[in-house]
Amino acid sequence: MTRVLYPGSFDPITNGHLNLIERGVTVFGRLTVAVAQNVRKTALFTADERVAMIREALRESAGLGPDKVDVTTFEGLLVDYARKSGANVILRGLRALSDFEFEFQMTHMNRRLAPDIETIFMMTGEEHFYVASSLVREIAVFGGNLSGLVPTNVERLLEEKFKRR
Ligand code: PNS
Repeated sequence: MTRVLYPGSFDPITNGHLNLIERGVTVFGRLTVAVAQNVRKTALFTADERVAMIREALRESAGLGPDKVDVTTFEGLLVDYARKSGANVILRGLRALSDFEFEFQMTHMNRRLAPDIETIFMMTGEEHFYVASSLVREIAVFGGNLSGLVPTNVERLLEEKFKRR
């Protein structure tokens, strides 16, 4: 049986991520979004906040319920969490060529650590090719227009976060 994990920082989730989740569900039937707790980057939102905003975004914009998409967090190595949760496929999105080197390294390292877990890539939808959480955070800091880049609940949360600063 195929059990799919879609891991990432999701700080915050973007419409590019949502697009990948929808298409992942179309292909695999269901999947688990796994929010990494200890990301190398300094996180803007806590892991629990990221989980909550992903759940809301799935309900609001994608209409995907918990029967199709679980959302959870993990600490430590992704492959350890995959094993613990019984997942045998890691799903990752690829945008431009610039993603490739990191994904290539990570896939091979994960395969070395856990040869029984396969990483599968899907190309990000063309309308989201340039959308990255890091750019979204930067636009939010300077009060730019986020509409169409992130789900509406995330747009609201970002606006609130930076209004108060
Ligand atoms: O959304 P991101 O930041 O590109 O996701 C990267 C992520 C969280 C999937 C990756 O950093 C990860 O798996 N972190 C968990 C720790 C781990 O397993 N590191 C070794 C990777 S070879």
